Amino acid sequence: MDTLRFGIIGLGFMGRTHFARLRQHPHARVVALCDSDERRRSGQWNDKVGNLDDVLADDAATTLDDIAPYSTIADLVADPDVDAVVVALPTRLHADATVAALEAGKHVLCEKPMGLRVGDCDRMIAATESAGRTLMVAQCIRFWPQYELIERMVRAGEIGRVRYANLRRLGSRPTYSSDNWLMDAASSGGALLDLHVHDLDFVQHLLGVPDAIHAHGVIGQPDIIDLVTATWRYADGCYACIEGGWAFTPPWPFEMAITVHGDRGTLEWALSRGPAIRHYNGSDNVREITCEGDAYGREDDYFIECVRTGQPVDRCTPQSTRTSIALAWLERRAIETGRVVPISGRLKAAWER
Ligand SMILES: NC(=O)c1ccc[n+]([C@@H]2O[C@H](COP(=O)([O-])OP(=O)(O)OC[C@H]3O[C@@H](n4cnc5c(N)ncnc54)[C@H](O)[C@@H]3O)[C@@H](O)[C@H]2O)c1
Repeated sequence: MDTLRFGIIGLGFMGRTHFARLRQHPHARVVALCDSDERRRSGQWNDKVGNLDDVLADDAATTLDDIAPYSTIADLVADPDVDAVVVALPTRLHADATVAALEAGKHVLCEKPMGLRVGDCDRMIAATESAGRTLMVAQCIRFWPQYELIERMVRAGEIGRVRYANLRRLGSRPTYSSDNWLMDAASSGGALLDLHVHDLDFVQHLLGVPDAIHAHGVIGQPDIIDLVTATWRYADGCYACIEGGWAFTPPWPFEMAITVHGDRGTLEWALSRGPAIRHYNGSDNVREITCEGDAYGREDDYFIECVRTGQPVDRCTPQSTRTSIALAWLERRAIETGRVVPISGRLKAAWER
């Protein structure tokens, strides 16, 4: 298959983010769009969405001529001209939309988090297996150039044995989402599942499933987790501190950052300090490594390449993104009980498959 024909479901922040990349991709064509909002599916995209500046805005209206607009998910997935679907809907709808698309024979790139509950993820995994179609969850941090480079350097042993990792993602409450679904715990899972999941997924990807989790959180109104600080402990003494949330008072500037420390060096990157990562290796000169690239574009490239070549999605398997949802729920249990939550060796082995 030379060109993958895409349908995008949900035309808010992330739907438009993928549209902007896919319409320029040499092996992709966007042939269908779906949104329940009539203005959005007709291409009126001049409203402000998301927390990044490069989301497509009002230049799209003139470019939708050859694209079929649908108002329902069922109609888009029934379109025989669609090979692959991007699911960029409020999280409560991820599982149903993904399963419907897979059952209709489409490949699916579903936005993170995979689902609200582990049971949602299980339904998605069962559907990809029985349909024989590709499913990838768009955990974009696994494709973020600075995180990818830090991962590569850690795996190459450049900082020795990892002793500690600290990942932060902090901001104020987002106000852009359609019908304010992000502030509805039953739709988004709060900052725990919407924001913090990026970093807990990356720690799980980099260091594996921990042996125990301890966590504190700020539960705002109405019953939504606004801020999480979790500590993951590993049997060899290594630990990770993962902090994320949208509790801070505006105009607090959004920040994301990562520090990974090993017994032979420390790696660090922070959005607020520019694109270069810093490698502290004991010499007087801090090594700065410039690192640029578009995570969303790289993630789309990878998905397209996997589908075109028939290779399995091994950088971001559905099984591993399911594990991240399970770990988020264990953090929630730790917050609510105030107890350390141990993870048995048997569970670790099953989750690390
Ligand atoms: N990877 C990232 O960096 C990142 C960033 C933000 C959001 N996300 C994820 O992307 C997903 C979408 O978030 P968003 O920020 O784009 O939200 P959004 O509110 O900007 O957009 C959601 C869109 O879905 C449409 N919609 C809602 N119900 C629908 C239905 N039943 N049928 C058709 N359309 C429907 C809405 O009208 C809206 O246009 C979420 O899961 C979110 O967690 C990922």
